[in-house]
Order: sequence, then C-alpha cells, then structure tokens
Amino acid sequence: MRLLHLSDPHLGTEQPVVLEALLSLAHRLAPQALLISGDLTQRATPAQFAAAAGLLARLPAVPRLVIPGNHDIPLWRLWPRLRQPYAGYEQVCGLRPPGGVAQFDLPGARVVAVDTTRWWRHRHGTLSAAQIDAVAQRLHDAPAGAWRIVMSHHPLAVAQEADHEDRPWRHRRALQAWQQAGAELLISGHLHVPALIRVGPRCWVAQAGSSVSRRLAPTVANSVQLLVDEPASGPGCAPGRCCLRYDYDGVRQAFMPAARHALRALRDPLPWRPGAWAT
Ligand SMILES: [Fe+2]
Repeated sequence: MRLLHLSDPHLGTEQPVVLEALLSLAHRLAPQALLISGDLTQRATPAQFAAAAGLLARLPAVPRLVIPGNHDIPLWRLWPRLRQPYAGYEQVCGLRPPGGVAQFDLPGARVVAVDTTRWWRHRHGTLSAAQIDAVAQRLHDAPAGAWRIVMSHHPLAVAQEADHEDRPWRHRRALQAWQQAGAELLISGHLHVPALIRVGPRCWVAQAGSSVSRRLAPTVANSVQLLVDEPASGPGCAPGRCCLRYDYDGVRQAFMPAARHALRALRDPLPWRPGAWAT
C-alpha cells in the first residue's frame, strides 16, 4: 500500500517549477490514494480555488481525501466568511461531511479525516467533543489489522514549544481517545515544517511540510510524504509500515528521497516520553 500525503500548497503562493516537480513525483510514485490535509489556497479566492482544481485534476487519478485548512476560509472578505466560509472549498472538493468527520477505507487501511478549521478562528484549530468521539468510534470499528490513520489540518502534536498554540483545542483529549481506539498514525500539515513524533507506544504524528508554496522558513524545503505498508518489498523500507519523506531539491528541480522512518510499535510500551523524537 502506498498513500501519498501532501499538504499546504497555498495556491496563489505556489512555485510553478516545484508544482511541476510534485506532479512528476506523484505520477512516478503511483500511489493507491492521495491524502491532502488542507490549505489548498492562500486566501480562499475564486481564482486560487480554480488553480486548486487544476492541481487536483493533474494529480494521479486515484481515490483521494481532501480536507480544508484555515487558509481555505476567506480572511478579509467578511461577507463570504460569515455567509459561506467553505463555498470555495466545497465547489472544488464537494460538500463537507456532517460533523466534519469523514471516513476513507482502502484495502488494509482506514483513514478518518477530521476538520479542525472554524470560520471564527482564522488560524487556530478546534476539535469538538462530538468530533473526538466520532473519530474514535470509526477507529474502533475499523477491520482487524487495518492501518488506522487520522488526518487533520492542525497537528495533534508539535516538535517545538513555540508551536504549541497550533495544536487544536482538546488535542490532549483527542490523543488519548484515539490511541485507545487504536490510532497508529496522525497526519497533518499547517506548520510547513515536516516532523515525525512518537506520541505513544503505537502511535505517531507525521506532519507534512508545504508541498509547493514559497511560504517556507529559510532552511526548510518543500516536501511531501509517502506512507507505505508493503511488508515484504517496500521501496527501501524494512518490512512493516513506514513514512518516506521527499524534499524538493532546487538544483535537480525534483523531489528527492530525504528521510525514511519505520513506524514500529514499542515492544515494551512503558516507559515512553510524550513528544520523543524518532531517530
Ligand atoms: Fe498552511
């Protein structure tokens, strides 16, 4: 199984050469599905959503799950923000599911997506108690052995203390409930910095960087990640589930393999340190 996870293209701030490199990589990797964790646009304008539709049309024609990010809600245009904050997103991606929770089943995996955006909080995210319970129930009900993945725009855990406020409200409660329900991987975007963080004995947070936007910290490249579960013959992976990161290389004008991490469970679940980094 190969799931391509990309995030935060922020169309309107895209770098055309990077976008073309992303398309080339996506077709070369031939994933079974695409997971896109929000911020399709920079300012949620009609032109930027039209560009987002163009990008989605050029990506591999495979099943996909796309959720909104906080930038997909108008910021300064108050009337559309108040009246129809998700109109542009829904024109491109379809209606949002009731309660902001969607389920995406693949052979061997269940991905549960949860919308952490709110029209009244332009930057920070929120999880409602109902969303936490709905995600937990869907994880709990996943077929035996399925890879249980949750996708949100805002990250449930962050690597830097300075980013703590970028976690959604109720993130601690969600982490506890979802892990009890069997969550193994929580994928997100928002920070434009890739990171892999162990948050429990069997659970990881994998943040994707920005796929094609120029809104980057000085030393951070554009990046995407491939989630692989091919027990015998993963591309460079030990048997089991792993996360491969691809960074954009400006010299080669291509995305290149940058890191790979096996997403192993700890044999002895105690003790573990919340937020401990993967090696
Ligand atoms: Fe973003």
